[in-house]
Amino acid sequence: MIKTSVEDCGYKALAEKAKEAVENAYCPYSGYRVGAAVLTENGNIYTGCNIENASYGASNCAERTAVFKAVSEGERRIMAVAIFTDEGNDAPFPCGICRQVLSEFCEPDAAIIIYDGADSVYNAELAELLPYSFQFNNE
Ligand code: THU
Repeated sequence: MIKTSVEDCGYKALAEKAKEAVENAYCPYSGYRVGAAVLTENGNIYTGCNIENASYGASNCAERTAVFKAVSEGERRIMAVAIFTDEGNDAPFPCGICRQVLSEFCEPDAAIIIYDGADSVYNAELAELLPYSFQFNNE
């Protein structure tokens, strides 16, 4: 994992899409806005935001919104993911559930771009964030 700038992260356009997506965040309970964007092997970008619910457990993270949008449009392979928040000073590392969902549709070397509101970026590979991920092989 390297720490860099949005200019030099190699995925500036994807990071900017995640930043735009934060504007749609629905987070009346936490007030913590998150945007995400995924780049598929077909070269398409799908965005997502967090969507909270009065029954907190029914909330959905930004990353999973973006992944589910992509998969529901027929995409099956995600090459890179960008996540953005401008809330607080901490970089928006994906939660454990999102890491597992990403592992379903990403190779271990997929780029995960973690972008905070201060224009600094962590560029990680999924396998660094979720080593030894659970896989179900039913072949
Ligand atoms: N959240 C995300 O959207 N992505 C993550 O990886 C972690 C958390 C959202 C869920 C909830 O709406 C808010 O951030 C606070 O947990």
